[in-house]
Amino acid sequence: MSGRLCYLVIASAAALSLFGADREFIPYDSVKAILPADLHIAGAAQWVAWCQRQDKAIRARLDEGDLDSLANLLLLGASFTTQPRLPMDQITEASKAGVLRARVDDLVAGLHNPGDNERLLFVRGLLRRQGIDPDGFQDPRQPGVFLYNNLLRALKERISLGERVAEAEKLMHPGDPSSLLNRSSAFRDRGVSLDTGIMPDFLIEQTLRDLKKRGVLREGQVARIAVVGPGLDFIDKNEQYAYDYYPQQTLQPFALYDSLARLGLGKDNGLSVSVLDISSRVIEHIRGARERAAKNAAYVVQLPRDVSRPWPAELIAYWKSLGDHVGISVPPIRPPEIFPGLETRAVSIRPEVVRACEPIDLDIVVERLNLAAGERFDLMVGTNIFVYYDAFQQTLALENAGAMLKPGGLLLTNDRLPEVPGGPMRLAGITAVAKDAAVGWYQKQ
Ligand SMILES: C[S@@+](CC[C@H](N)C(=O)[O-])C[C@H]1O[C@@H](n2cnc3c(N)ncnc32)[C@H](O)[C@@H]1O
Repeated sequence: MSGRLCYLVIASAAALSLFGADREFIPYDSVKAILPADLHIAGAAQWVAWCQRQDKAIRARLDEGDLDSLANLLLLGASFTTQPRLPMDQITEASKAGVLRARVDDLVAGLHNPGDNERLLFVRGLLRRQGIDPDGFQDPRQPGVFLYNNLLRALKERISLGERVAEAEKLMHPGDPSSLLNRSSAFRDRGVSLDTGIMPDFLIEQTLRDLKKRGVLREGQVARIAVVGPGLDFIDKNEQYAYDYYPQQTLQPFALYDSLARLGLGKDNGLSVSVLDISSRVIEHIRGARERAAKNAAYVVQLPRDVSRPWPAELIAYWKSLGDHVGISVPPIRPPEIFPGLETRAVSIRPEVVRACEPIDLDIVVERLNLAAGERFDLMVGTNIFVYYDAFQQTLALENAGAMLKPGGLLLTNDRLPEVPGGPMRLAGITAVAKDAAVGWYQKQ
């Protein structure tokens, strides 16, 4: 990027900061016609009180999500043990062989001596918040017992979730792309996790390509974007994406910026990216990256690919090009021996791109930013987030997104969201990306 263009990006990102924008609950007037009777809400004051309770309850689910990640770390982590990884469906045999026991022991030892392992340092804090002393000074068995019990809980939930997802999959019809959108609110009563990886970003790039081809989005059209819930890669639940050998990272804001630049859809003088999330871990992570970017430090993302698992050609092409419009390829961190078939790439994201990403604490279910017409978004992206909510909460989230979009603006999501008759948002189309994955485009009328 030329020096002048780079200056423009920084200047425009700074000038368009939404940091000071008011956050407000979704107004009573916009929901009173659709309130479920069993909420017994009779006026604006009761509505605000309900929103406050909802917001608190939603945010409380983050700790449960962190505990799910802890179970994934115990089974699949490689930064504290040399034991083989343990996919959930192999737990019974592995328990017999003593691998599970050895993993628990190694994790307990790692928690006692975490060094600079940021995941273990985080888990120490998480355990303390659960009333467990990670060093086991009072009771040496306590951390290990907690890890076992937490795994047991996560296992039970995984089984019931599997049944729910299987039910939802029965409703899928390959000929009907709308049936490919997640529609079951399958995670509605689960902890909110931060898992993220390359796959949703691939889905979004393919969708943007489709939108360009169909003329729904034009070159240079997009200037202001929002990523709702970008997540933080701590360790994934799926073995093929579960790595803990590199620092925690977020990907979606940079990947979206990259796709818009690659497809020529972004404005020439750069994008402003609002990153909306309820997780202080996500918000603080991006804030830290921005502060370092202000001192001209780049942000490096690691992009592993397990070559033993077949990926479609388009996904491999995406993996190879990911980041080339927002940074440069740099030598990746070498994976540990335990991952023999891993090909890796790393991209150093340019500081001005990191600076263009502004993290904002916002609960999309009950909150919105009060934006002037010129500040509203051209495009919002929210993947693997609305599936954590029931139909009414999804309706509210869609209304809130609508309030922050410009007329004609789009929300892209892989979830099916209930529209409000006469409301501002309509499902305008769907891009089927694979036989089991699609992205819907909700458009502000
Ligand atoms: C499972 S991760 C998905 C990450 C990424 N979008 C992806 O598809 O890989 C869910 C993300 O949504 C955020 N999130 C969940 N509920 C939210 C809400 N009500 N408002 C804003 N962010 C939320 C979480 O904190 C997390 O960052």
